[in-house]
Order: sequence, then structure tokens, then C-alpha cells
Amino acid sequence: MKHAQWLLALAILLGDLPLWTNSAAAQKEVNDLMKKKLEQSQKILEGIALSDFDKISAGAGELIQVSKAAEWRVLKTPQYEVHGNEFRKAAEAIIQNAKAKNLDGATLAYVDLTLTCVKCHKHVREVRMARND
Ligand code: HEC
Repeated sequence: MKHAQWLLALAILLGDLPLWTNSAAAQKEVNDLMKKKLEQSQKILEGIALSDFDKISAGAGELIQVSKAAEWRVLKTPQYEVHGNEFRKAAEAIIQNAKAKNLDGATLAYVDLTLTCVKCHKHVREVRMARND
């Protein structure tokens, strides 16, 4: 019996090994994508500060692309989906306001966007803490 348990544990361990290497590469892709998110949102802020509507639109457009990447879906919870939708909606509102050359509107939408960053990260932390990983 003991022996069988040990074999089972070994089988699980070995079976998981390729998964670990896979997930290390996948994790890097996720990190790169998430960093891109920060860069593009900084670009939007720069655009807002300089009233550069093209820069604002370009940054928000990139953010929408980022949110459509497969690596974006780190968690499969409904709440994560909601935060992702709000992120996209805020980015779209930024583009609309930039097109209308409405700096105040773009700034407000940027604040909304920033709130979605914080809310989603909070959700991710809570889920991970609960799962203890
Ligand atoms: C829908 C959820 C969601 C939204 C919205 C979101 N993020 Fe993230 N973000 C994540 C997740 C998930 C991670 C962690 C990825 C991991 O470590 O597995 C992350 C990680 C990061 C990281 C760390 C990257 C690294 O090197 O580990 C940065 C920086 C970041 N996000 C910036 C932002 C900014 C800026 C915004 C808003 C403009 C934002 N995020 C909005 C889900 C989100």
C-alpha cells in the first residue's frame, strides 16, 4: 500500500515536469504582456499631459490589443472577465474622447482605466491567496 502511494506520487511528479517547463515560458509571456500594459498606459498619460491626442489614441488602442491576447486570460473567473471588460470599455472611451479632442473626457476615462488596473490586481491577489499559490 505504502509502495503504491509512493509510485503514484512519483507518477504525478514526473507527469508534471513538462508542465513546469511549459508554464515557465508561458509565465514569461504573461509578464511581458503585463509590462506592455504598463508602458502603454504611461504613454496615454504622457499624451494627456501634452494634449497629444494621437499618442493618447495609440496607447489606448495598444491596450485593447493587449487585452485580446490569449495570455491576458490568467484567471478564468467571471470577476476577472468583468474587470477585463471594464478595462476595454475605459480604453475605448479614451479613444472616443481623443477623437473628439476632449482632453477632460480622456482624462476621466484614464482615471477609470487606472481603477480597473487596481481592481483587477486586487481580485487576482485575493484569488491567489485563497488558492495559496
Ligand atoms: C483583467 C485583469 C487585469 C487588469 C484590468 C489589469 N491587469 Fe495588470 N496584471 C493582471 C494579472 C493577472 C497580472 C499578473 C500576471 C502573473 O504574474 O501571472 C498582472 C500584472 C501586472 C504587472 C506586473 C508585470 C510583471 O512584470 O510581473 C503590471 C506592471 C501590470 N499588471 C500593470 C497593469 C496596468 C498599468 C493596468 C491598467 C492600465 C493593469 N495592469 C490592468 C491582470 C490585470
